[in-house]
Amino acid sequence: MTAIRPSYPTLRIGLAGFGTVGQALAQLLTASGPSAPIHRDVELRITRVANRNVERKRAGWLPGVSWHEDPLALATAADVDAVVELIGGIEKAYEFVKLALANGKHVVTANKALLAAHGDELQAVAAASGASLRAEASVAGGIPLLRVLRESFVSHRLTSISGILNGTSNFILTEMEREGRTYGEALADAQRLGYAEADPTADVGGTDAACKLAIIARIAFGQGVSLGDIRTGGIGQLRPWDFIYGRKLGRTPRQLGLVRQIPGDGLFLSVRTHMVQTDSLFASVAGPSNAVLIQSQDGGDFFFAGAGAGGAATATAVYSDLIELSRCGQRPETPFFGTYEAAPLHRATSKDFVAPFYLRFVVRDRPGILADIARCLSDHHINIDAVLQLPDQHKEAFPFVITIEAVAESQVEDAIRQILAMDFNVEPPLSCPMTP
Ligand SMILES: NC(=O)c1ccc[n+]([C@@H]2O[C@H](COP(=O)([O-])OP(=O)(O)OC[C@H]3O[C@@H](n4cnc5c(N)ncnc54)[C@H](OP(=O)(O)O)[C@@H]3O)[C@@H](O)[C@H]2O)c1
Repeated sequence: MTAIRPSYPTLRIGLAGFGTVGQALAQLLTASGPSAPIHRDVELRITRVANRNVERKRAGWLPGVSWHEDPLALATAADVDAVVELIGGIEKAYEFVKLALANGKHVVTANKALLAAHGDELQAVAAASGASLRAEASVAGGIPLLRVLRESFVSHRLTSISGILNGTSNFILTEMEREGRTYGEALADAQRLGYAEADPTADVGGTDAACKLAIIARIAFGQGVSLGDIRTGGIGQLRPWDFIYGRKLGRTPRQLGLVRQIPGDGLFLSVRTHMVQTDSLFASVAGPSNAVLIQSQDGGDFFFAGAGAGGAATATAVYSDLIELSRCGQRPETPFFGTYEAAPLHRATSKDFVAPFYLRFVVRDRPGILADIARCLSDHHINIDAVLQLPDQHKEAFPFVITIEAVAESQVEDAIRQILAMDFNVEPPLSCPMTP
C-alpha cells in the first residue's frame, strides 16, 4: 500500500544548478503578471540555490534565498521539502540525489545520464524513505511523455517505441537536408546557436539518446536496460550525398532511438540513423525538436512531437513534477519507473532485426566494383532492390548506393565486413535501415 502523504500548500524547494534550466525554472516560479505560474492552488517557493562558484550566480531578482556552493547543503536543510537537481553529470548528482532521498526530500531531476546509470537504485532509496523521485524533463525535454507512458499507457500492450530523442542531432540532420550544409558546417551552426555543447560527443554519438531510450524501455516495457544493451551509433558518417541519394529514394536520414518487442520474448534496442520516408511524421520534425512514436497492439499508433530541449520548455516539464509533488497528498502516487515489472526479455541481436537497408559506398573508381559487391551480397542471400549512381564527378572518391530488400541485419553486417576488406573502399560503407 502506498501511503498518502500530506499535500504541500507551500512546497519549499532547494535548487541545485543555476544554469540554463535552473535559471529558467527560477524565472518561471517567480514571474508575475501575465507570465505568472498558472497553478495558484500550490505555492512553490525556492528557499535555497546551490551552484559552484556561486558568487557569479547570485541573482537580485530571486530575493529571500540562501546561496550555496555545494548542493549537498540542500539535501539535509530543514527548510527544503524537495530538491531539484539541474547540475547534470553523474557523480556529484548521484551523491546529492541519493542523500536528499535518504533524508526524505523529494527529488525532481532532468538528468537522463543519472537515471540511466542509477535510476533503479535511486527509486529504491526513495521507496525506503517515503520520498518521491520525478524526472519528466529527462526524456524529450518539454514533451509530456514519461507520465503519459507510466499512467496512460499502463493498459496497453506496446510493441515498439521509436523517437527523435536528441535535438542537436536532429538540428544537424535537417540543416544538412534543407540547407545543403556539410556535417561539420551544420555542427558549427548548432554550436553557435547554443543547440550543441562545446564537446558534442554525447549528442552526435548517440549516447544522450541511448540514456533516454533506457528510461523509456524501463517504464514502458518494465525492463532494466543498461547502455551496453543498446546498439548505439552516431551521425558523423553522414555526407551530403546521403541526402541527395535519399531524396531520389523518397527518404531522408533521421537519428532514431528504437525499442521493439521481438516475437519470442526479445527486446531490440538501438540508436542510429534510419532512412525514413520524406512524407513520414519523423521527416516532418525539423530543427532541435523531438518526437516519439508509440505503437500499441491495443490502440494503434500515437505520435508526440514538440520542444525536446531549451531552458523554458525543460523548466516547464520540471514545474509539472513540482506541481504533482505538491499535490501528492491528494492521491496515491506511482513510482517514477512505474509498477510494471515484466518477465525478463532477452536482448535481441541484429539477427532479430529485419528491415530493408540503404547501403552507401565510397570507392576509388575501377572496373568491376559493382560486380564484386553484388556477388558478395548474393553470397549472403541478400537481394538487391536498386542501384543509384549519380554522374561520376570525383574519380578519387566515388559514392553510390545500393538498396536491399528486407533481410536480417546480421547478414548485412557479415557482407559489409567482407566488402570492407576489398581494396576499393575510400571510407567504410554506411548501412541504415529504411523504415516507414
Ligand atoms: N538544457 C536543456 O535544454 C536540457 C533539456 C533536457 C534536460 N536537460 C538536463 O538538465 C540538466 C541541466 O542542464 P543545463 O542545460 O541547465 O546545464 P547547465 O546550463 O550547464 O547548468 C548546470 C549548472 O550546474 C552547475 N554545476 C555543475 N556541476 C556542479 C557541481 N558539481 N556543483 C555545483 N554546481 C554545479 C553549473 O555551474 P557552471 O556554470 O560552473 O558550469 C551550471 O550553472 C542536465 O542534466 C541536462 O541534461 C537540459
